[in-house]
Amino acid sequence: MRSFSLIFKQFSRSVLLIVGFAFWGFSAAYAQTDAAKGETIFKSKCTACHKIDQIMTGPALGPQLTEETDDKYLTKWIQNNQALIAAGNPKALAIVKKFDGKAMTTFTELSDADVGNVITYVRAEWKTISEKPKVDPNAPGAEAKGPSELVVWGLIGIVIIAFILIIVLNKAAGSLERVLANNKNIVVEDEAVVAETDKNVLLKKILKNKKLVFFILVCGTIAMGSWGWVTLWNTNVHTGYQPVQPIKYSHELHAGQMKIDCQYCHGGAYKSKNASIPSLNVCMNCHKVVKTESAEIHKIYDALGYDPKTQKYDSTAAKPIQWIRVHNLPDLAYFNHSQHVKVAGIKCQACHGPVETMKEVYQYSPLTMKWCIQCHKRTEVNAKGNAYYDSILAAHDKIKKGEKVTAAVLGGIECGKCHY
Ligand code: HEC
Ligand code: HEC
Ligand code: HEC
Ligand code: HEC
Ligand code: HEC
Ligand code: HEC
Repeated sequence: MRSFSLIFKQFSRSVLLIVGFAFWGFSAAYAQTDAAKGETIFKSKCTACHKIDQIMTGPALGPQLTEETDDKYLTKWIQNNQALIAAGNPKALAIVKKFDGKAMTTFTELSDADVGNVITYVRAEWKTISEKPKVDPNAPGAEAKGPSELVVWGLIGIVIIAFILIIVLNKAAGSLERVLANNKNIVVEDEAVVAETDKNVLLKKILKNKKLVFFILVCGTIAMGSWGWVTLWNTNVHTGYQPVQPIKYSHELHAGQMKIDCQYCHGGAYKSKNASIPSLNVCMNCHKVVKTESAEIHKIYDALGYDPKTQKYDSTAAKPIQWIRVHNLPDLAYFNHSQHVKVAGIKCQACHGPVETMKEVYQYSPLTMKWCIQCHKRTEVNAKGNAYYDSILAAHDKIKKGEKVTAAVLGGIECGKCHY
């Protein structure tokens, strides 16, 4: 009977499990239809001013709706934000201050359920976006750090195994010797007794053991050799370099939490050789009103000669902020951002790492020639619809037909070929 009750228990457990799964599946499916309704509303009414993962005219709604959990407030805000502002709701006033001078449309036509669906959709969408790994796993990262760690660990492993082997063999040889000696009735000094009576004798014994001395020398040479090898490889490689910047500007906050697009500040990366560091006027788009009391923000004001009280600029008092450069190729190497970002479509993170999680930027990739070359060997070029490659193909055809080809046809009048 005991086994029967056991079977019954198991049976009821599986039934519970199935019911649970079914319930979960149903509710997920139900939520999906809600989210689908929400998506339609969101796309028709909100996308003019909002993105889920980026600040546009209004805040990035993904993080905004995840941080703000008071759905009653959100519903009121979305239906009629003007009413909330007029009533002096502190949350509403705060967000209006943050987005100084921009107003949101009212949507009194949306029912509570409609708004609920929009919120469900935005949160679900944000969850899938934010749970996606931010850095492309195929991205060439800091692989090219000289000899790989595997080799070093492999060497250490071999050394340890060899050491153990030698000790065991030594022991075996020792006992064999003793057996032989016993047979010949010769007394061998007991090592333990020796060790207790005189340490120097032990040292002498070790030094006399040529195999052991040789082994220690070999180990020392391998260790010093690998250390020297690694050091030489990494001369002038500054992976991890992270200078302290004059203003505590955080990418983790601005590019990570607030989802400001890299392009907003480093637009140069898409159209020129240099990614460029934004001028402080870009910061003022927000910091004229955001965190005006912060000492860090006052450094921006001082640098621009801006007086927050009178809201006037005094250009004679301005002195530029001296950001400390993190990435720096030697002048003998030519690197062009737009060619990689725009033409090849490589993400910033492939070379700079997860910048949006860095409070202070550090150098993520080694920036060695090996690093450049390895990526060039591995990365396929997308030549379709690329005017430059079309011109190369055209030149190729001309050469085949024996026609005249000028340097211009090969791109010799492109500004970037001659100019930095
Ligand atoms: C005309 C542009 C515009 C449209 C359209 C718009 N918004 Fe906004 N939204 C804003 C601006 C600007 C803000 C920032 C606050 C302010 O200045 O009014 C904002 C703020 C918000 C906030 C933040 C409120 C808070 O306190 O956290 C939410 C939520 C929001 N919008 C949802 C929506 C939804 C949902 C829709 C579509 C039904 C929508 N918005 C359509 C411009 C717009
Ligand atoms: C709000 C403006 C802003 C945004 C948005 C922004 N950055 Fe920056 N970035 C800066 C400023 C200012 C500096 C210089 C200070 C520093 O190094 O932290 C900088 C420095 C850097 C550096 C180091 C440059 C050097 O000195 O070698 C890298 C790399 C970088 N940003 C990449 C990114 C990437 C990638 C993104 C998008 C994920 C991004 N940034 C978004 C303002 C911004
Ligand atoms: C799109 C708007 C926006 C831009 C552009 C922007 N910031 Fe910010 N910044 C913010 C917001 C919002 C906060 C955080 C407010 C908070 O903590 O409540 C902030 C916080 C900061 C802080 C921390 C202040 C403190 O004391 O906590 C610093 C420093 C800062 N920003 C520097 C900069 C610099 C330098 C730039 C220009 C390269 C810049 N920001 C551009 C919106 C912006
Ligand atoms: C293929 C690799 C690669 C990609 C992709 C890349 N960078 Fe860079 N970045 C570099 C290298 C290399 C340097 C150093 C350039 C130098 O010293 O001349 C650099 C330097 C910088 C600097 C310092 C200032 C400057 O212009 O030299 C900033 C800022 C920067 N990158 C931002 C970005 C942003 C933002 C993106 C994405 C839009 C991006 N980078 C994409 C490799 C890359
Ligand atoms: C993440 C991969 C990657 C890394 C890292 C990288 N590159 Fe590139 N690079 C590319 C790709 C892809 C192209 C081809 C773009 C195109 O279609 O024109 C390219 C093209 C180039 C070209 C143009 C070649 C030509 O014939 O027109 C130069 C020059 C260049 N890279 C220099 C560098 C330097 C210097 C570095 C290292 C500091 C570097 N790259 C690092 C992917 C990379
Ligand atoms: C075949 C190489 C080559 C090409 C392609 C080329 N340039 Fe030049 N450019 C030069 C040389 C060399 C100089 C310097 C000689 C001089 O000053 O007379 C120069 C000078 C200049 C100057 C003057 C700089 C100064 O400070 O005096 C400008 C501006 C300029 N080029 C712009 C361009 C633009 C824009 C393009 C693309 C449409 C371009 N160049 C294409 C070789 C080239």
